[in-house]
Amino acid sequence: MPGALLLLAATGVALVVAFLLLLYLVLPVNHPKPLSLSGAHVVVTGGSSGIGKSVAIECFKQGAFITLIARNEKRLLEAKREIEKFSVNDKQVVHSISLDVSKDYANVEKLLKQAQEKLGPVDMLVNCAGISVNGKFEDIDTYRFEQLMAVNYLGSVYPTRAVVTKMKERRMGRIVFVSSQAGQVGVFGYSAYSATKYALRGLAESLQMEVKPYNICVTIAYPPDTETPGFVEESQSKILETKLISESSSICQPDYVARIIVKNAVQGKFTSSFGVDGHMLRILTNGMAPVSSIAEILESVIFLGIFRLVSLYFIAGFDSIVRRCLVEREKSEKTD
Ligand SMILES: NC(=O)c1ccc[n+]([C@@H]2O[C@H](COP(=O)([O-])OP(=O)(O)OC[C@H]3O[C@@H](n4cnc5c(N)ncnc54)[C@H](OP(=O)(O)O)[C@@H]3O)[C@@H](O)[C@H]2O)c1
Repeated sequence: MPGALLLLAATGVALVVAFLLLLYLVLPVNHPKPLSLSGAHVVVTGGSSGIGKSVAIECFKQGAFITLIARNEKRLLEAKREIEKFSVNDKQVVHSISLDVSKDYANVEKLLKQAQEKLGPVDMLVNCAGISVNGKFEDIDTYRFEQLMAVNYLGSVYPTRAVVTKMKERRMGRIVFVSSQAGQVGVFGYSAYSATKYALRGLAESLQMEVKPYNICVTIAYPPDTETPGFVEESQSKILETKLISESSSICQPDYVARIIVKNAVQGKFTSSFGVDGHMLRILTNGMAPVSSIAEILESVIFLGIFRLVSLYFIAGFDSIVRRCLVEREKSEKTD
C-alpha cells in the first residue's frame, strides 16, 4: 500500500513538472537578459522631484550616467547636486535639461539628440514627468483635461519617440512608463487624471509588441499613493470622497517605489506593481498584458476569481463612502 501511494505521489509530481515545462515551452513568456546599469545612460523625465528623482538616485547608485529632465531649472540643479552625492565612481555624470516634455516634439527630439551626443545612446528611458488634478468631473476646467493628457500621455510619447529608433538599431533598451493605480481602477475625483494613466497602458502594450523582436523591454509601473512633493501639494485640495477612498490603502515612500521600478525594468518585466494591493490589482487587471514569468500566469489562473470577489467588497465600500458624503453635503446645504 505505501508503495502504491509513493507511486501515486511520484506520478503527481511528474505531471506537475511536465505541465510547468509545457507552459515554459509553449507560453509567450519573455526572458530577457537583465540590463546592467553600470555605465548605462538613463534618461529620467520628471527627474527633479519625487519618484523620478528617486529613480535617478537608484540608477546612479548602480553606476549609471543620468540625464535629468524637468522644466524648473533651479529644482533641476538642486536635484542634480543631490544625486551626485550617490556616485559609485568618479566618471559618472548627471546631465540636466530644462524641457517641457509635453510641447513641441521637434524640440524634445533635438535636446535628446544632444543628450545622446554627450552621454551616449539611451539604454533606459523612464517617463516619470506627470501632473494630477483632483475634483468632481463637472468642476474640473475643460482645459485641465487637455493639459493632463498633454503632460501625462504626450509627455511620455515624445521622449519615447525620440529614442526608440536608436534603441531598435542597437537591438537593446528599456522604456518605462509611470502610470498609477488610478490607471488600473477609476476613482472618484480622478476622471481627468485616470484617463491619462489608462492611456499609457494601451501605449505600453502596443509598443511592447512592436519592439519585442528588437530585444527592447517596456515596463509599465502602477504606483500607489506615494509621499512626494506633488502628492503633498495635491492632498491639500483633495475632495473628501477621494480622501476617504484613498485611506483604504497605505502611502509609500518614493525610494521604495523607485527601487521596484528600476528592479523590474532592469529585469525586463512588463508590469511593475507595489505591495499587497498592487499585487492584487495587477492580477485583477492583467487582461492580455504581456507576461514576464510562469509564476505570474499561475497566480492569475489561481487567484483571479477570488480577487474578483474581494474587489466587489471594496467597490461596495467605495460606493457607500460616496453615498454618505452626498447625504452629509445635502444635509449641511439645507441647514445653511
Ligand atoms: N505621488 C503619487 O502618489 C503618485 C502615484 C501614482 C503615480 N504617480 C505618478 O508618478 C509620476 C511622478 O509623480 P510625483 O508624485 O513624483 O510628482 P512630483 O513630485 O510632482 O514631480 C513631478 C516631476 O515632473 C516634472 N514635470 C511636470 N510636468 C512636466 C513637463 N511638462 N515637462 C517636464 N517635466 C515635467 C516636475 O518638474 P517641473 O515642474 O520643474 O517640470 C517634477 O520633476 C507622475 O507621473 C505621477 O502621475 C505619482
